[in-house]
Amino acid sequence: MIKSLKNQLVVALGLLVSVIGVVQGVSSYQLSKTGMSALLDMRLEQVAARMRDGFAEGIPTNPARGSQDDRDVVVVVWKPGEALPFRTTDPSAHFPRDAQPGFSGVTVNDELWRIFTRQEPTMTIQVAQRSSVRREITQEAATVTLWPIAVLLPLVWIAVALVVRRSLRQLTQLGAEAQAIDAAHLQPLPTVGVPTEIAPFIHSINTMIERLAMSIEKERKFIADAAHELRTPLTALQLQADNLAPHIVAGNQERFQELRKGITRSGSLITQLLRMARADAPMGGAPLTRVDLAEVVTGAVADVLPIALARGLDIGAEEMVSAHVRAIETDIGMAVKNLVSNAVRYTPDGGTIDLHMRRDGDMVWVDVIDNGPGIDEALLPRVFDRFFRANPDIEGSGLGLSIVKAIAARYGGDVTLRNRDDGQSGIVASIGFPVEEVPERAAAAASASVSTSASA
Ligand SMILES: Nc1ncnc2c1ncn2[C@@H]1O[C@H](COP(=O)(O)OP(=O)(O)OP(=O)(O)O)[C@@H](O)[C@H]1O
Ligand SMILES: [Mg+2]
Repeated sequence: MIKSLKNQLVVALGLLVSVIGVVQGVSSYQLSKTGMSALLDMRLEQVAARMRDGFAEGIPTNPARGSQDDRDVVVVVWKPGEALPFRTTDPSAHFPRDAQPGFSGVTVNDELWRIFTRQEPTMTIQVAQRSSVRREITQEAATVTLWPIAVLLPLVWIAVALVVRRSLRQLTQLGAEAQAIDAAHLQPLPTVGVPTEIAPFIHSINTMIERLAMSIEKERKFIADAAHELRTPLTALQLQADNLAPHIVAGNQERFQELRKGITRSGSLITQLLRMARADAPMGGAPLTRVDLAEVVTGAVADVLPIALARGLDIGAEEMVSAHVRAIETDIGMAVKNLVSNAVRYTPDGGTIDLHMRRDGDMVWVDVIDNGPGIDEALLPRVFDRFFRANPDIEGSGLGLSIVKAIAARYGGDVTLRNRDDGQSGIVASIGFPVEEVPERAAAAASASVSTSASA
């Protein structure tokens, strides 16, 4: 059973055309054989007619045996009352003189002959040809008629395959577009120029996509609302804990600190949930600005500098390039900060964190490279999943990278995470955005400002 519609059509049409071709071939072969044999018969009759018209005397009286080609017709002329033929072109062939008038088949010298006998008052004329020679001639003529079909059939298969592929190209294209649909890009499939047979399909898929987008948006709003609602009671809890702090007796301090840590953890989770919901939200009419990515990078480093210094981490931004991204500035800041804070969080004290910027075509990338423990290769593909944490010993909500991914997707960018391949342990986290090109003069001014801020 062939699953592909394209292959099914190609095979069905190809077989149909082949069957027609074979039937056509067989019939034209047969027709041409019959036609050829009628022509050969006509030739025998014509030769006989010539003999009657006085040509018989032209035949040598005693032709040499074997002087005649096997393929030629043999002519025998009898005169009434004579036992031997009056003339014969082949003395070795003895045809029965009393053969029935008209066409008949006779065996002479173990060979089958087709013979035409014509009775005249003054003579009997017999013109004969070997049946094997006739078969050869008719077959040769008939075989020639098969050539065009033999050549055309493979070409027809190719043509069928091309035509079917062309007709189904749109279907294949729609299939690829449908496959590219994911929760982050819920675009309806195009409906213009779609064949009428598939239009209802596309329409149903688009309705489904619309409903899916609505339910995803509902879920996102619910998360945002829930996180928002949880913030108030949590702030109250925090306040109460602060108020209680002076009254906790020494024996209960440790448990009290656990309680406060729990409150802080819940607070961070709620903050991350809100950020997640915001990053997933449709862009709407939010105003986009020209964001200087180099500034964002230096800002992110400056933000974590106090913690880094306290933990003896060597953090630095090198190889900066001047590039702007059209976006909401806080989004880009949040994405880069998440990567930097991961590097800070997961790199042991005294480690090194480097930030690089690089241009690649029309994209600009920020690489955050640390020399921490890295991530188990088997777990790497899951790090962008919500709530996934590869290292449960270190606190975190598991949402940071999902937020980064949502932000990258929002601006047509991308984010990747891989283990270092330069012999050291650690992670290379990269985020890229499409560059917003700037006029040359503005670019020169921007690069001057980058070099000052980088050296600062
Ligand atoms: N630079 C890194 N080195 C080692 N592991 C990392 C690094 N960055 C991320 N990870 C692993 O990937 C997991 C997911 O990271 P993600 O930023 O999404 O969540 P998180 O850091 O645990 O929490 P959050 O960022 O929401 O506070 C982390 O729990 C950690 O195990
Ligand atoms: Mg994180």
